[in-house]
Amino acid sequence: MAQQATAAERDALIDQRQLRAIFGRFATGVTVITANYSGELFGVTVNSFTSLSLDPPLVLFCLHDRSSFRAALDVGSSFTVNILSEEQRGIAGLFASGVDRFLKVNSLPGLGGSPVLTNSLAYITCEVTQQLPGGDHVIIVGRVIDTGLLRRQGRPLGFFAGAMHKLKPYQ
Ligand SMILES: Cc1cc2nc3c(=O)[nH]c(=O)nc-3n(C[C@H](O)[C@H](O)[C@H](O)COP(=O)(O)O)c2cc1C
Repeated sequence: MAQQATAAERDALIDQRQLRAIFGRFATGVTVITANYSGELFGVTVNSFTSLSLDPPLVLFCLHDRSSFRAALDVGSSFTVNILSEEQRGIAGLFASGVDRFLKVNSLPGLGGSPVLTNSLAYITCEVTQQLPGGDHVIIVGRVIDTGLLRRQGRPLGFFAGAMHKLKPYQ
């Protein structure tokens, strides 16, 4: 009798390079998510940010399970989502790979102390309510505790097919 393939056997048939390229065809904005955990500043570039719920006000993002940032995201701690503008391409690069990230950017402490990056389009400060397993990532769910619209006329930084983009409106 033919045996059904296990989930692991089916996963092995999915080409990871192809999957990465396919996932990258979904265009997103770019955020830098920051935290101040016991006086230590954390910040990481993230494009998996998603608005989740208006009532109650919830957001989520997906963080690699080996990220140094995990240490700052206990349930009850806070973080700030900084939505980047097209002028902040360098900051997106810095928070994806750089060292001494906060020495090179201007920021102000938000509610709970997580840095709000100046020149961002908007920010959302949240309290961590859940950490859910998601394969090689962790899904972080946050409840919104503060927001700010910093640049109503600013344009977003976009991410598509592995590269940063400026968004152009239809004429
Ligand atoms: C545009 C862009 C989007 C990214 N999105 C995510 C993301 O959603 N989740 C994640 O864990 N890493 C994401 N990364 C990768 C992290 O920014 C990168 O691994 C960072 O160096 C992690 O910092 P750490 O080593 O301090 O944890 C993204 C990188 C870029 C350039």
